[in-house]
Amino acid sequence: MRYTTLQQQAFYEDSKKYLGHKDETTLLPADLPILEDLVRFHEYRYYVLNDPLISDFEYDRLYKLLEALEKKHPASASPTSPTKRVSSDLTEDFATVTHLIPMLSLDNSYDAEDLNKFDAQVRKLTERENITYTVEPKFDGGSIALIYENDMLVRAATRGNGEMGEEITIQSRTIKSLPLEAAFSSKGIYRAEVRGEAVISKERFKAINAFRAEEGLSLLANSRNSATGGLRTKDPSETARRQLDAFIFQLGYAVDKNGRDVLPTIKSHHDAIDFLGNIGFKVSRGEKKLCHGIQEVIDQCNHWALIRDEYPFEIDGMVIKVDSFDLQDMCGYTSHHPRWAIAYKFQAKQATTKLLDIEYQIGKIGSITPVAKVEPVSLAGVTISSISLHNEDFITSKDIRIGDQVLIERAGDVIPYIVKSLPELRTGHEKIVSYPTQCPSCGTTLVREEDEAAWRCPNMECKAQILQRLIFHVSKDAMDIDGFGEKYILRFYELGWIKNMADLYQLDYDKIAALEGFGKKSADKLKAAIDKAKSNPIHRLLHSLSIHHVGQRASKLIAEKINHLLDLAGWSTEDYIAIKDIGPVVAQNAINWFSHEKNIAMLREMEAHGVNLTQTPQDKPKELISDGVFSGKTILFTGTLTQMGRKEAQELAEANGAKNISAVSGNLDILVVGDNAGSKLDKARKLGTVQILTEEEFIALAQ
Ligand code: IVH
Repeated sequence: MRYTTLQQQAFYEDSKKYLGHKDETTLLPADLPILEDLVRFHEYRYYVLNDPLISDFEYDRLYKLLEALEKKHPASASPTSPTKRVSSDLTEDFATVTHLIPMLSLDNSYDAEDLNKFDAQVRKLTERENITYTVEPKFDGGSIALIYENDMLVRAATRGNGEMGEEITIQSRTIKSLPLEAAFSSKGIYRAEVRGEAVISKERFKAINAFRAEEGLSLLANSRNSATGGLRTKDPSETARRQLDAFIFQLGYAVDKNGRDVLPTIKSHHDAIDFLGNIGFKVSRGEKKLCHGIQEVIDQCNHWALIRDEYPFEIDGMVIKVDSFDLQDMCGYTSHHPRWAIAYKFQAKQATTKLLDIEYQIGKIGSITPVAKVEPVSLAGVTISSISLHNEDFITSKDIRIGDQVLIERAGDVIPYIVKSLPELRTGHEKIVSYPTQCPSCGTTLVREEDEAAWRCPNMECKAQILQRLIFHVSKDAMDIDGFGEKYILRFYELGWIKNMADLYQLDYDKIAALEGFGKKSADKLKAAIDKAKSNPIHRLLHSLSIHHVGQRASKLIAEKINHLLDLAGWSTEDYIAIKDIGPVVAQNAINWFSHEKNIAMLREMEAHGVNLTQTPQDKPKELISDGVFSGKTILFTGTLTQMGRKEAQELAEANGAKNISAVSGNLDILVVGDNAGSKLDKARKLGTVQILTEEEFIALAQ
């Protein structure tokens, strides 16, 4: 741990003290370094240890207080302040930098036999019988080398060719689990180089792709590419958006002011990692194991092969290192890798197969997605026969041809992906892909907008598109009609019962009951689900219409501003872009959609059949104040308030940006406690993430 218990208690007390300040006006320049340390401390607890001591809300307030105070006294603000992680400067081309010592690679092993051979060689080189190894995860991200001088992060670089890498200092500063300042001097170290891996958590990777899908952007292939791409972008705010993490696994170089090696008290890899952990780096702690003898190493590797999918980060194997530095020295290096370490690679999640054909799928807004049909191949327990090729550029840039042998990969629970084609295996019978210029369903000439990766069929009446839109309309994300999936849509469409969305609300359930495989019970069930969906809030209906770029979030933002869905028929670009976060592209697409008389008639028909197009008071979100003291926070009152009524207090909270909610859960940010508070207070205390305020504190903060 980087901080002593006493220090932590002091930080906690100080945090509470500063949280008592409404704004920076009552603070002095002398508060700056203290506030900085507090924010740094809480970032360490949150990003490095995953164990925050205060709520996100409290952290945000401390951060904002620091930011405001720095703005007031810019001359006193420190260059290593936590607020300085993202600078808005754009880099020119990446500068090439030489590593202090070359970044070597690792030798690979794949089974117990390989590991036994490795152990035999280590025993021979060290002339010892029993070797202690550390075994730790092999992170699948992008290597980074970081130089600290005088305890400050001064340079970060990618691995590059091992001798020279690319400078990525400003990008790395956005990685919150990397300390900008670390107490190397506590061991007499003036200059140090640490090495590690920038990674992206599986959860974050999924969230980024969900967002990209919603925005119609191309999907990121896997978390490794997302991490390396995040490091090598020239825009550090993009690195920050990806929320990378950095695990440090090596202290490569450490010298004093005179350039002399200084590691007298660190005698092993294990100690080095503990030291790095103690001065603030994110390191493998629980994941790292000291193993005595190679059999324990093998057992540990087998164990991790079983649990790797549950680990929050992608790992492609384990790394085994001789623990003692003295013994490491005795083993030495080849020009490629250290002889004291080896990677144990998990069973390959890559395979080669033959690309048989390409099919073109048509999406709900007409986007064409090429899909490779491949000879079925088993990859990490799943049989794969089709793989998305994303778009035309993907095929061209990878020079993928029909008949090619292709290398495919499946990372974790991510969808399979074509890494590359293997031109060296071509027989001469492969066919260059001729991308369609006409819609494979309706024959309309395809179009490609300037900023879009996909070709699109512009014909709104295209059968394939209509089907996709109907399927989307009933799906969970849209109208959420339980039990109504693709199968029924296709069947009812072929029977001529549904041609557009309005038809879904005027089905003849007697006819459905009479269909083979149906019966009265399932027809009734379907009717109940459809009837239920009729009273959905209008943001769901708006989303369900498949208007290009009008995703879930945009639909909510727009729906908040209207009383009836058909109000949008009279909206102009200005009306749309007056909404924060709605841009001209969404505006244009929505205007287009609502300018078609057919679409308006369809909505009217839906309304006539009971579909709700009106904003209901309970669905209309309250106007939230965006710059209040409680903006973005949820609040709950409990116990008897003495200075005002419950309703009055809730209104005051709302006027200051808060959203009132009714239960204590992980979603609650603030609990205001009156007299005789009971179980809600206990529960909030147990959660530990809720800020608890007295009525007086609440009133003092509110305006
Ligand atoms: S130690 C001298 N430990 O794997 C090499 N490397 O395939 C010392 N990697 O370039 C590397 N996790 O980027 C080490 N726990 C770990 C690692 C790790 C991931 C990467 C590293 C290296 C590559 C070699």
